[in-house]
Amino acid sequence: MNVCVVGGAGYVGLVTGVGLAQIGHRVVGVDIDDERVSALNAGRSPILEDGIDLLLERNLTNGRIRFTTDFDEAVTQCEFVFVAVGTPSQSDGQADLSQVIQVAESLQNHLAAYKIVVLKSTVPVGTVELVRDILGEGKEEGRDFDIVSNPEFLREGTGVRDFFEPDRIVIGTSSASALKATRELYAPLIDGDNTVDHAPIPVIETDVASAQMIKYASNTFLATRISFINEVAGLCERVGADVREVSRGMGYDPRIGHAYLQAGLGFGGPCLDKDLRALIKIAETSGFEPGLLRSVLDRNELQIDDVVRKVKFMIGHLLYHRTIAVFGLAFKAGTNDLRNSMAVKVVTQLRGEGATVKAHDPVDFSEAEQAGIHSCYVADPYEAVRGADALMILTDWPEFSALDYGRIRDLMASPAIVDARNMLDATEMAALGFSYNGIGRGVDPLSHAGRP
Ligand code: UGA
Repeated sequence: MNVCVVGGAGYVGLVTGVGLAQIGHRVVGVDIDDERVSALNAGRSPILEDGIDLLLERNLTNGRIRFTTDFDEAVTQCEFVFVAVGTPSQSDGQADLSQVIQVAESLQNHLAAYKIVVLKSTVPVGTVELVRDILGEGKEEGRDFDIVSNPEFLREGTGVRDFFEPDRIVIGTSSASALKATRELYAPLIDGDNTVDHAPIPVIETDVASAQMIKYASNTFLATRISFINEVAGLCERVGADVREVSRGMGYDPRIGHAYLQAGLGFGGPCLDKDLRALIKIAETSGFEPGLLRSVLDRNELQIDDVVRKVKFMIGHLLYHRTIAVFGLAFKAGTNDLRNSMAVKVVTQLRGEGATVKAHDPVDFSEAEQAGIHSCYVADPYEAVRGADALMILTDWPEFSALDYGRIRDLMASPAIVDARNMLDATEMAALGFSYNGIGRGVDPLSHAGRP
């Protein structure tokens, strides 16, 4: 089938486009970012994503994918138009739908031949009606177009794998023919062609509103688990328990499971926080009190204060004129994405209180302008810790566990570590002479200093 992906050079658009090309469709990714479009046509992916380079090269070579900035030319030839543009948070938390609206307005002139418009972007319930109203001016739903809500569940870093091995495919539409066509589009995945051996993929055929709520509820549930375990971690520090043991013990209960119970710095990235805020706003505007969701957000924001308090306690309370080394800037391991990174928020707070920050990440962020990160980026981890009063581990890159901590201790002005991702062995660090503090590991820096 011929598929156009609008927002095709963005994270979701690119992974979706390359995935659809790989399962046999002819895909054109359209995007306003001409630098990205040129890079992609030359086989260079702007996102760090396991497996994307190979799939991009393969499908460019066999002519199944191409990228363009020419919206009109791209959509004319396609039966399917995937909308994968951004829906960032506005200052009040509400999703900014301007890009979705703009796409719908541009599409309106291109409905001479019937198209199925597939909303991939995470949008509040009601957006489909808005898109329908825009497209419906002079055109008829069912004859000229149909709309499908098909939310994505890709995780950054493992997005390609998530595309080929989805836990479920959600198709929300009121049109029986659009449902059938969308099922056919995904048939190679659903029926097992082109994929490795795996259990059948559940296809959830539902209405549009439920499809959109499935996406919001899924992301906010993941956020809820993380905030829950972070709150338990705080309690563990008060009672001398180890949250990693608690998570492990809880996770074996099949009603609970192990995933998303890793205590740490809190959830960052472009999705969980944004969707949580949007759902809170949706609740508020519909006159419903989202008390639980608000607490999830509050707990997440408190994590930043908690780790900054830990480092202050270790170095004697004042950050002014102190040097703090930081390991990890990306919002999680395996990505070059700094959007809404909790690590960046911590760096901003440290600098705001007068500390000099030297931050290392395996990704080269020497040109990252966001929050002035380029000015504190240090390419070599050992250089980053030289002369530092404390080290904070803020992203869970596995590389950090493999470093030589004896050497790090010798390079630091004072050997203190706040391990906000619980990556290191506390006993080993104590044996090396570090004063060490993790998250929820039985050591409350404010009342039990010095305990192993
Ligand atoms: C998230 C969802 O997991 C995807 O299913 C969804 O498709 C995507 O958002 C989206 O809406 O586009 P992603 O933003 O890539 O994916 O990030 P996650 O892997 O879910 O991690 C989010 C944050 O939670 C990270 O900062 C991570 O470090 C943190 N986290 C995760 C924890 O602190 N503890 C955990 O146990 C798990």
